[in-house]
Amino acid sequence: MPMETITITAESKKERYEEMLPQISALLADESDLIANLANVSAALKIAFNHYSWVGFYLLKNDELVLGPFQGKVACVRIALGNGVCGTAAARRESIIVPDVTKFPGHIACDQDSRSEIVVPMVRGTHLCGVIDVDSSEYDSFDETDRMYLEKIAEIVSVKF
Ligand code: SME
Repeated sequence: MPMETITITAESKKERYEEMLPQISALLADESDLIANLANVSAALKIAFNHYSWVGFYLLKNDELVLGPFQGKVACVRIALGNGVCGTAAARRESIIVPDVTKFPGHIACDQDSRSEIVVPMVRGTHLCGVIDVDSSEYDSFDETDRMYLEKIAEIVSVKF
């Protein structure tokens, strides 16, 4: 089935992320409920970026990642640390960009349409809170701009845990 072609220029992507940072801070400023905050952040990001097919949070609970608020298709609920892109990024506490998910050993295919992915850990102090996971239905959708801004967003969000 032909997939929608997703085009976002490098410049417009950077601009859009720059706009999103204060918006996300504002969304979180007066609210302490974690689920409400993560739900709004996932919605804001999904609307802002058409190269995202799925965006959401996996939260660390009893040493495993558990699905949190997200926008997109139904996804797998539990991911062990070290498994898949999410579990690997969480275990390493390091962002991972996957240009082609079929080439990532152990990639967990929740959504058959997913072609590329980025996962960014959320760490507060020394505590791993979880990860932000973004999928795209196109190959090679994520670059250093996505990594840099999603890491900033992870920092903003981590303060609310
Ligand atoms: N692909 C992920 C699983 C989560 S879904 O993409 C929403 C992984 O390999 O960890």
